[in-house]
Amino acid sequence: MKTEPFSFMINSPGFIPSYFDNHIKRHLSDMKGQFNNKEAFQEVLEAGDKLLYEVYELKRPEIEGEILHGISIVHPGKIGEEYYMTKGHFHTVLETAEIYYTLQGEGMMVMETPEGDWAVEELKTGGVLYVPPRWAHRSINVHSDQDLVMFFAYPGNAGHDYGTIETQGFRKLVLSKSGKPQIVDNPHWKPPEK
Ligand code: PA5
Ligand code: NI
Repeated sequence: MKTEPFSFMINSPGFIPSYFDNHIKRHLSDMKGQFNNKEAFQEVLEAGDKLLYEVYELKRPEIEGEILHGISIVHPGKIGEEYYMTKGHFHTVLETAEIYYTLQGEGMMVMETPEGDWAVEELKTGGVLYVPPRWAHRSINVHSDQDLVMFFAYPGNAGHDYGTIETQGFRKLVLSKSGKPQIVDNPHWKPPEK
């Protein structure tokens, strides 16, 4: 980890940062219980453990004042009607935001609060998305054959709470209907306990 000011490049094609500390790869087997169609999940998994998305992280001390940042690349594909997507999470420190800048592709960011409010924003090349504090977020690649590539940045002390989403799911799903992405209710969503 660097302590002096530093720069790096994110160039197309590929968009792999010229400098990074961590390369995280998430496969289908890391996403158990997350996709709506369990039979399709099992079927695709048995055919091979596909790589769904990758994250290139620049490590920073996980403290207030630092900014964690990097690149996420969600590959194209579907499990049944549901597009490849990230696990999604709340930040452990709920009152922390995140910024995403889309470098390539087409997608959707599905978001929700602990109270069950929800929002879906389109992700497109050149677009900036601000995820306010308290909003869980999941990125979804809706393109048929192009990677969704985004630069992200969030506070060093944010942390990741994956457990809440693993248990309750997101309220909304994005499914491919007649070749177009459609936002639908998640039949398995568990409303937050009051
Ligand atoms: O912190 C973020 O929101 C991103 O950097 C994500 O970690 C990245 O998009 C991968 O998603 P997830 O952490 O939900 O697997
Ligand atoms: Ni986040």
